[in-house]
Amino acid sequence: MSLIQLVGEYLFTQRTKDDQRIAEALSEQFGDDMVYFDAPKIYAAALETARAEQSRVLVLDPLCVVQVDTDSRMNGTRFITAEVDRVIREGKSDYGFYDVGDAGTYWLRAALSAFSPVDAMTGVYAHGIYAGGQLTGVLVYISQVQEIYESLRDIQLRILFWLVIVAAAVMVVNMFVLRTITRPISELNEGITRMSRGDLSARVNVRGKNEFAGLASAFNSMSERLEQLDKSRNQFVSNASHELKTPLSTMKILIETLLYQDPIDPGMTKEFLTDVNKEIDRLNRIVSDLLTLVNIDSGAMKLNLTDLDIAGLLQEQVKRLAPLARENGIELECTAGGAIVVPGDPLKLQQVIYNVIDNAIKYTPRGGEVHCSVARSGRMAVIRIADTGEGIPEEDLPHIFDRFYRVDKARSRETGGTGLGLSIVKQIVMSHGGTITPESTLGKGTTFTIQLPLANKKSEE
Ligand SMILES: Nc1ncnc2c1ncn2[C@@H]1O[C@H](COP(=O)(O)OP(=O)(O)OP(=O)(O)O)[C@@H](O)[C@H]1O
Ligand SMILES: [Mg+2]
Repeated sequence: MSLIQLVGEYLFTQRTKDDQRIAEALSEQFGDDMVYFDAPKIYAAALETARAEQSRVLVLDPLCVVQVDTDSRMNGTRFITAEVDRVIREGKSDYGFYDVGDAGTYWLRAALSAFSPVDAMTGVYAHGIYAGGQLTGVLVYISQVQEIYESLRDIQLRILFWLVIVAAAVMVVNMFVLRTITRPISELNEGITRMSRGDLSARVNVRGKNEFAGLASAFNSMSERLEQLDKSRNQFVSNASHELKTPLSTMKILIETLLYQDPIDPGMTKEFLTDVNKEIDRLNRIVSDLLTLVNIDSGAMKLNLTDLDIAGLLQEQVKRLAPLARENGIELECTAGGAIVVPGDPLKLQQVIYNVIDNAIKYTPRGGEVHCSVARSGRMAVIRIADTGEGIPEEDLPHIFDRFYRVDKARSRETGGTGLGLSIVKQIVMSHGGTITPESTLGKGTTFTIQLPLANKKSEE
């Protein structure tokens, strides 16, 4: 049941009760007057009520002929409606509503419209008038219910008005929700879909400062990182292929020259085969460096940590490289006091120190010097490898630990470098919890400082 029906029913019930009360009171009052039919008295009482209530009172005799009409228009005519009929036949009061506009019978319409404006709703209440238990007449009380209809229509309009307002508000809220929740989610969803299809350049818009903006910027930084990783992986593969290709093509040229020589020159053959052998060594080195890096990347590198005297290890490597230094006309010296113990993997740290001293010798011209030293500083062992070499330009310094990075591409290949040495060094030092820092002045020299955490006090003493 709708709200408007509920309200209507309440109002009509209220009105029915009021009308019933008035009609009952009048019928009771007129009971004896009907026996002697004191018309002026009945008329006066009925008129008083009709004026006060703005209604109309008819008093019918048992044959439904109007005896008293407060409007004095229907005296002597018959007035039979369903309600009056019910009072006469069944002795029960009844109530009915009539729309004057469609009241079927002419006389009824005339009766009602005389009282109400045309097309108005009218209520008709019929009640028996009794004297000594005998029906002596019927009281018809006609009241106007148009105002109830009008107020109902008014309420209906108000409800409609509020419905429109609420609908508009719902639409506004909906738009707000769409903007702040649904749209960011669908944008994010689109980004994720693009990324899962392999488009790593997918980014989403970051709006505002709510959780969705946080999510969006997390997504953006994730896809940025992935894109970078993808790029550096491609770069790595292309660099690696390039490095492998160079010795291979050199070998091909050497071998083809050998194949087509006629007659065979034993001296040249030996020389070329020596070159081929060198290229194979180079290939071997590149491949094993690459394997080391892949090993580190996949996290498969295991450190065999022991208490290691890093001063002893440094001296050992200096001794090992002394012949190379001599060959290159470089003075190589080492200052190391007593033992300095760090927890470390001997083979890996040996590779670190070898690589850095090897670089220092390689990139220092004849007549230069390379100084190595190790000392304790706080909770760290500090290893310094300083050379008086060519130095590294400032703009190259941040890149020297990158894979395949060489400052002077052409010359380094001659000296046999692939640019993998320092990236391996850095990974090993970091896996020991240490740091490596280069300092360089172009034309003056370079110093690499490696810091490794010392073993705890107990094992040191
Ligand atoms: N002590 C140094 N003085 C000047 N330049 C250096 C020094 N050490 C490294 N570099 C520069 O840094 C680059 C990278 O060094 P890295 O050891 O990674 O590669 P490489 O020596 O060229 O090759 P690899 O060590 O793999 O044989 C070198 O090519 C060189 O240009
Ligand atoms: Mg090197």
